[in-house]
Amino acid sequence: MIKKTERTVAQGIRGLHAGWSSSGKMIRPACIVLLFLLLQGCTRPTVHEPVTLTLLEEWTTQTFSEGRQQELQQFTRDTGIRVKLLPSPESARDKLILWQELLRTGASGPDVYGIDVIWPRILSEYFIDLKPYFAKEVSLQFPAIAAAYTVDNKVVAIAYRADIGLLFYRTDLLRQYGYREPPRTWDQLEIMAARIQAGERAKGKKQFWGFVWQGAAAEALTCNALEWQAAEGGGQIIEDDRTVSVNNPNAIRAWQRAARWVGSISPPSVVGYTEWDAQNVWVAGDAAFMRSWPTAYVDSQSAGSSIRNKFDITLPPGGKASRVGTLGGAGLAVSRFSAHPREALELVRYLSRGDVQAKRSHALSVPPTLPELYELPEVLEPNPRFALLSQAFRTGMVPRPSNVTGKKYQDVTDAYIQAVHSVLTGEKSAPAAAASLENELVGVTGFKKGPPRDQHIPE
Ligand code: GLC
Repeated sequence: MIKKTERTVAQGIRGLHAGWSSSGKMIRPACIVLLFLLLQGCTRPTVHEPVTLTLLEEWTTQTFSEGRQQELQQFTRDTGIRVKLLPSPESARDKLILWQELLRTGASGPDVYGIDVIWPRILSEYFIDLKPYFAKEVSLQFPAIAAAYTVDNKVVAIAYRADIGLLFYRTDLLRQYGYREPPRTWDQLEIMAARIQAGERAKGKKQFWGFVWQGAAAEALTCNALEWQAAEGGGQIIEDDRTVSVNNPNAIRAWQRAARWVGSISPPSVVGYTEWDAQNVWVAGDAAFMRSWPTAYVDSQSAGSSIRNKFDITLPPGGKASRVGTLGGAGLAVSRFSAHPREALELVRYLSRGDVQAKRSHALSVPPTLPELYELPEVLEPNPRFALLSQAFRTGMVPRPSNVTGKKYQDVTDAYIQAVHSVLTGEKSAPAAAASLENELVGVTGFKKGPPRDQHIPE
C-alpha cells in the first residue's frame, strides 16, 4: 500500500532514472540531482544578484516539504538569501548513497544537507565544524541529541528535529474492550491486540489487525527490532564499549516473539511494511496499535482521518528491562565545498532556531530538539502528549550503534536488518540468525563478542 503523495518525489527520480539504466542496477538518483545542479549552474546569478543556496533535505513527505517551503520563503524574506530545495529518495539507505555521491563530487553539490542522526560519523569529513558558530545552541539541546551530532569534538550538524519510536493506540477501542490504560509490556500488547482484533473481525471488520509496524528490510526495521530487544535487556546490538552483544538469549526471544506476530496480530505483509504502509492501515482505522514516529500524529489527526481524536501515544512497551523508543531525527550540515558558507550558516541557524522549531512542532508535529520548548503552550496545546517526549529524550530512548561503529554503521545495520528479516519471514531460526550475525558483525567491526551491558535508566 502506498501513500501516493508521499512517494511522488522518489518515484519520479526512479522513473526518470529507469529510462537511463539498462543494467537493472541499483537506482542512482544522484544523476537527477546532479543534472539539476548542472542546469542550475548554467543560470548561476551574477555577483550582483542574490545568493541561491541549495538544500538537500533528508525528509520527503509532501506535508513536510510544503511546511519547509514556507519556512524557506520566510528565510528569504528575512535575509534576501534564496534557497532551492532538492528532491531526495525515500529510504534511508538510498539517501545515504545519494548524499555520498554528491559529497564526493565536491564543489558542484548542495550547500546544506539534512542528515539522519545515524550519519554524522559516516559523513563527518565532508562538513565544516559548526562548533565555533553554534556553541550556545548546542548546549541548549537535549544532551543525547547534541552528542549524536558531535564527532571527536567536531559539531557535524545542528539538530533541527528530534525523533523517537512510539506506540500509537486507539483510545476508543481500548475503552470498548475494557482496558483502562495502554500496554506497559509486550505481553500485554499481544493480549490486547489479539482480543481487539478478534472482536472487530467478529463485528465484520475482516481486514482489522491488532498491531502494525515496519517490517520491511529497511532502516526502520533496525529501529523496531532494537526496541523489542532493548525492552527485554537484549542490548543495543553493539555496546558503547565495542562489544558485539547481539547474540544473547533476550534478543533472540524478542525476535522470536515478533516473528509470531506475523500473520497473527500483524498482517503477513508486515514484513514488507515501511512507515507509510503501517500508517495507511492505521489511519484507515484498521489497526488497534501502531509503532511509528511522532510525526505520524499529523495524518492520524487530519480532518480526513477516520481515527481523529480516537488515539493517543505512549512509549513502546517494555519487558524485563525498560520501555524505550529508538532515537531518530535529523540535523543540518554545511558542505565544506559550499561557495556560500556564510549564507549556509545563516540557513542552518534559522531552521534550527527555537521559534522556528516551535512553529514547526505546531504545524507538523515535529518534536523540537530544545528541552525548553516543551514548556511552551504553543508546543503542548496542539500535541499535549509531547510532554512525555521531553522525558523520553533524556531517559526513554535507545540509540542505534552508529557512534561506536562510525563509518561501518551502514554495513552493521544492513547485516542486522537481514538477520531480523530472515527470522520474521521464517527463513532462519532466531538462534541461527543471531549466531551468524554476531560473526558477521565481528568481521565488519573487528570488535569482540560479549554480553549486553544494559545502560538504560528505567522509567
Ligand atoms: C525516521 C527517523 C530516522 C530513521 C528513519 C528510518 O525518519 O527520524 O532517524 O533513520 O525514520 O526510516
